[in-house]
Amino acid sequence: MKLWAGRFQKETDTLVNDFNSSIGFDARLYKQDITGSIAHAQMLGKTGIIETHEAETIVDGLKAILADIEAGGVEFTLENEDIHMNIEAELTIRVGEAGKRLHTARSRNDQVAVDTRLYVKEEIPVLIGQVLALEEVLVKKAKANLDTVMPGYTHLQRAQPTTFAHYMMAYANMFKRDITRLEDCRARLDECPLGAGALATSTYPVDRFSTAAALGFAKPTDNSMDSVSDRDYAIELLSALSILMMHLSRFSEEIILWCSWEFKYVDLDDAYSTGSSIMPQKKNPDVAELVRGKTGRVYGSLVTLLTVMKALPLAYNKDMQEDKEALFDAIDTVELCLPVFAAMVDTLTVRPKDMAKAAAGGFINATDCADYLVKKGLPFREAYMIVGRLVNLCIKTGDTLDTLTLRDFRAISGLFDADVYQALALKTCVNGRKVYGGPARESVEKQISLIEEFVAQRKEK
Ligand code: ARG
Repeated sequence: MKLWAGRFQKETDTLVNDFNSSIGFDARLYKQDITGSIAHAQMLGKTGIIETHEAETIVDGLKAILADIEAGGVEFTLENEDIHMNIEAELTIRVGEAGKRLHTARSRNDQVAVDTRLYVKEEIPVLIGQVLALEEVLVKKAKANLDTVMPGYTHLQRAQPTTFAHYMMAYANMFKRDITRLEDCRARLDECPLGAGALATSTYPVDRFSTAAALGFAKPTDNSMDSVSDRDYAIELLSALSILMMHLSRFSEEIILWCSWEFKYVDLDDAYSTGSSIMPQKKNPDVAELVRGKTGRVYGSLVTLLTVMKALPLAYNKDMQEDKEALFDAIDTVELCLPVFAAMVDTLTVRPKDMAKAAAGGFINATDCADYLVKKGLPFREAYMIVGRLVNLCIKTGDTLDTLTLRDFRAISGLFDADVYQALALKTCVNGRKVYGGPARESVEKQISLIEEFVAQRKEK
């Protein structure tokens, strides 16, 4: 029999039971639901809204249910619709009368809001921990490759020389921002909606501050209508996760390119690659491709929730039940991607010789060649024009700037001397860029130490 059988003259159609129920996916909130109910029951007892012994009976019953769920001994039903009603029904079967008092001064609207917030609040540190582990891998790779020169690109055209360490630190900075976004999200959601009731609180003397504190929230939410209709925290998390996945996807794309024989900058470990069912020579970067692919799925969750919420009037609407699958799937997906991605990067082998070969071939020292002339007094625009002519000459003769003879150089500008070769050496070009944030060894060492400090601070907490 339904809770609302008093008001209704017919049984719910089985189609509606199936359609309406969320137990298939919200069962994972059982722990948060029980935690929230325990806090609520204790508050009801303390404020005298129910008898203390009833509150105790409820709390003991809920604790026993929790243990039994974890031992696999509780079956949820579709008729009870969602995790909230399933647990309440189970409690009432077990403890009788007292169980029927648990829902005093509460609605599923504030209940689901508190459960979901608790869930997100617990998952964020897990996500942060995984990103921190990735940061440690990047630091390790960077430290081992401070002098590994490679081409840096713009428009995917070889542009200026950099190092693999500088490259790794670029990603490390992106992931650092991801961590701070997750931290911001967690700080903002740290308010407890419990006690908001259906939308307008209740006439009982509920103590929202005590339930907020008992559940580890900084404070109760300030407006009860907002409390039950707000899903910003879920959208914020999905936004942060979408950006994080965008970073992982860009990185994946680079790894996929770097593994190709056209680049061959890195080799993936056999344990992190797959073969082909037909082509015996293949070694495919499936992990990177799947991470790139799963990014679409996380964006999908963000768009799902934004769209679900976009025209909802205040306060709770059943549409909001659609938040959970999107939210859970995104969290699961990111938690699945991060460890395998970090392990793939950790185990890949860098191929400095192939990187150096590519770096030598693309005129990536052309800016340095122009700067050489600028240092001899020429305005940059004129120097730029001269080097353009030199590059044009090289393309015709199949040379690179450093294989031109001094005569070739001097035929175009008398400012060139024998020291030009030193100026064009890629190591010189990289290590000359000592500017804060640049690719020179000392600049990258600074970047590494900043990331190390950031990681250490988080791990202390
Ligand atoms: N299963 C519901 C959800 O996830 C719980 C809240 C139901 N509230 C209601 N008034 N029907 O949103």
